[in-house]
Amino acid sequence: MTDDIQINDGGTLRHLLTLENLSGELVSEILDRAQNFLSIGDRKTKKLPLLRGRSVFNLFFENSTRTRTTFEIAAKRLSADVVNLNIATSSQSKGESLLDMIDNLVAMQADMFVVRHAQSDAANMIARHVPKGIHIINAGAGSHSHPTQGLLDAFTIRHFKKDFTGLKIVIIGDILHSRVARSQIHVLKALGVHEIRVVGPETLVPESLSEMGVSVYNDVDSAIKGADVVTTLRLQNERMEVSLVPSVQQFHKDYGLTKERLALAHPEAIVLHPGPINRGVEIASEVADGPQAVILRQVTFGIAVRMAVMSLLQD
Ligand code: CP
Repeated sequence: MTDDIQINDGGTLRHLLTLENLSGELVSEILDRAQNFLSIGDRKTKKLPLLRGRSVFNLFFENSTRTRTTFEIAAKRLSADVVNLNIATSSQSKGESLLDMIDNLVAMQADMFVVRHAQSDAANMIARHVPKGIHIINAGAGSHSHPTQGLLDAFTIRHFKKDFTGLKIVIIGDILHSRVARSQIHVLKALGVHEIRVVGPETLVPESLSEMGVSVYNDVDSAIKGADVVTTLRLQNERMEVSLVPSVQQFHKDYGLTKERLALAHPEAIVLHPGPINRGVEIASEVADGPQAVILRQVTFGIAVRMAVMSLLQD
């Protein structure tokens, strides 16, 4: 759908809007570049000059801790100038349209926009609107996609498991509202993972999911059995008009990742979570803080992955 605007004629990345249809080669190029950037974080001087003199605007219309902050750190490590627009105090409240706001920021000579928005097509709309030479990164679009999260999930899995072929990966929880689940599935498919299982309450697993080439399970314990990677997702209550589970206690009992459930996975399974975690709901504290959890490593890897994406965008 967005191939035409996110990929240049020569196959390079112009914008990052979705992982849907992104080739395994391009994904691997991003992950390899992120690998090269990883050690920058261990240096005393955590800087590279790749985006020196460029202006990166963070536009977060939805709340964020990890994505907004790691994009800012990534841009600064690449020596860019970063502007974090406070949407709550911006002139959006005076009736300015999204595209009029973008035109004004373009007039301030922005080079890159990092956009999180509840509307699935907001980043695409901006990408179609801006002049050539300005790059858009989708930092989370509604329930639709969160491409840099998918990439950092893939980076984390590759870091710990080395090879994607033969992996059994399970995603548990509120799949219906999860842009993370969709982006993770797209990237894992591109990297050749065959066995992706999803499980959650019937109300939170869309029937259309099997069209993405994943196996939909009804029973959580069967889904976890033998898995190499377990991703657990929070209930995204902010996207529900009415509660779609009987209670959080019941959700935890039926789908929460407890130590006992995790014991059904491969003994060396890793546990991923995009954050924010809700302890005692989708994940038990002893799992979140346990030896198999790589949740905080995901956050650190996210800096290198976002540096890779920002430095790869070109006309
Ligand atoms: N994973 C993620 O998108 O977290 P934030 O909402 O804190 O950015």
